[in-house]
Amino acid sequence: MRCAVKHFAALPNLETANPQMEAELLLQHALGLDRTQLYQRLRDEMPPDKKETYHDLIWRRLCGEPTPYITGRAAFYDIELAVTPAAAIPRPETELLVETALALADKRIQDTPSLTVVDVGTGCGAIALALAAHLPSAQIIATDISSEALALAQGNAERLGLASRVHFLRGDLLEPLEQPADIVVANLPYVRSAEWERLPVEIRCYEPREALDGGPDGLRIIERLLRGAPPVLRPAAALLLEIGFDQGPAVVALASDVFPKASIEVKKDLASLDRLLIIQL
Ligand SMILES: C[S@@+](CC[C@H](N)C(=O)[O-])C[C@H]1O[C@@H](n2cnc3c(N)ncnc32)[C@H](O)[C@@H]1O
Repeated sequence: MRCAVKHFAALPNLETANPQMEAELLLQHALGLDRTQLYQRLRDEMPPDKKETYHDLIWRRLCGEPTPYITGRAAFYDIELAVTPAAAIPRPETELLVETALALADKRIQDTPSLTVVDVGTGCGAIALALAAHLPSAQIIATDISSEALALAQGNAERLGLASRVHFLRGDLLEPLEQPADIVVANLPYVRSAEWERLPVEIRCYEPREALDGGPDGLRIIERLLRGAPPVLRPAAALLLEIGFDQGPAVVALASDVFPKASIEVKKDLASLDRLLIIQL
């Protein structure tokens, strides 16, 4: 089975940062094993009846289908989520938003023990559920315009035992909210429409466009969120928004226009690229 992993990892035409890990995930999926079980059996012969299953999975991957859609699972922060093409695949870059929101919530929870945190555009629930797992006393609300994405997120909340802690609401941005928020987090669509056709096949042909396309300048939905936010924010609220690497100056200008008195900063990711807009009222 070690050879099966190696052969896959060496295959050409695969646009992936970590072919070895993807090969292992596909092999685990084909064999119905977890990571530890796979490692214990790496020296074993591949069961003959599983060879074709594994080859089919490799073929799907080589055609461009993302591994999380093939296996139906994605790791995010310290949780595992079910994923389907109903929602975008959670990305490692978004973990910076979770990390920053948790640090902010930790500081504020002393003054506001029943903190209300809202995840706008929750998709499969990645951000909302990672936050809920770490903020046991906070009220977490998650919204999305897509009812299919919300159904997926609700299923993830149930599987993770967090369903009683996260309230899911369908609707446009903050519109479904019935109470003021202390912290608003969002990873909304921010890809420029004209860039869509240039994206890798993994994204362009498999992920839902409405989850990623942010309009001509990529900022149509983010701008609407910012302009609609003031009435639903508590006086010392914070907003954390994931952005594209080249959108820092534009979102700072937008945020300064809507919140002239707020503290506004852009945080960089591990690759030193602008990734997160932080607004503190
Ligand atoms: C980039 S995906 C992010 C999903 C998830 N938050 C994550 O980080 O993996 C953006 C999500 O925003 C949702 N969305 C797009 N427009 C929206 C709107 N006007 N109101 C609410 N949600 C919206 C999409 O359905 C999609 O689930």
